[in-house]
Amino acid sequence: MTTPPTPVLAGNWKMNHDPASTRVFFERFLRLHGLRTGATVIVFPPAISLEAARSALGERRDVQLGVQNVHWESSGAFTGEISAHMAGGAGARYALVGHSERRQLFSEADADVARKTCAVLTAGLIPVVCVGETLEDRRAGRANDVVTRQLGRVLDAVRDASGIVVAYEPVWAIGTGETASPEDAQAMHDSIRTQLASGGKATVPILYGGSVKPENAATLLAQPDVDGLLVGGASVDPQSFATICAAGA
Ligand code: 13P
Repeated sequence: MTTPPTPVLAGNWKMNHDPASTRVFFERFLRLHGLRTGATVIVFPPAISLEAARSALGERRDVQLGVQNVHWESSGAFTGEISAHMAGGAGARYALVGHSERRQLFSEADADVARKTCAVLTAGLIPVVCVGETLEDRRAGRANDVVTRQLGRVLDAVRDASGIVVAYEPVWAIGTGETASPEDAQAMHDSIRTQLASGGKATVPILYGGSVKPENAATLLAQPDVDGLLVGGASVDPQSFATICAAGA
């Protein structure tokens, strides 16, 4: 598995953009976002819009696609679920795993996240493993412990962690307009880097997510251990996502 070139600029659309509006997004985005090498741009549309995204991208292989969630089994009687293998068939090369909305709203446990990460790797996709503490955790002084535990469960489960990407997304910064300060982000990324390095995987890219906007993207990316950004709300609009991608150029 090859490590994606950094910086990684990733847009998680969450439950936004049906197939028709996905086509409109890419028509505009591709006009704004010039062909460029040396960075990785990934869009995570809803699974139902992956095919539309793939056909809208056409020959533009500089923009990659990912899926927001998968089941850990490859097929079977799991109504409403999709597998990593299926997402790959629809054009995804990446899969988000353990996003805090999945953990909090859909009760995903660390063990589920670990199983999904393994399934994504087995399917030949790159898992973007999301970790992050709640405000309660941070106030109680256990932010590092929570993130270390979340990542540790994944590292224990995978045979080779060199094929993963990590995204640090403090829950209190997601969709709130409140961004972690560049120093706070750097401090947590440094701690994650140390944890990865103890398993010999210091080169795993670590992305920051949580209220990333065109205005703060460059400052966050300037931190030595911030290898990229995972953008929610600001990635739904082609202009603001193109501006964020340009900040990583
Ligand atoms: P916002 O950028 O909307 O805060 O969302 C971040 C996120 O959850 C990306 O996965």
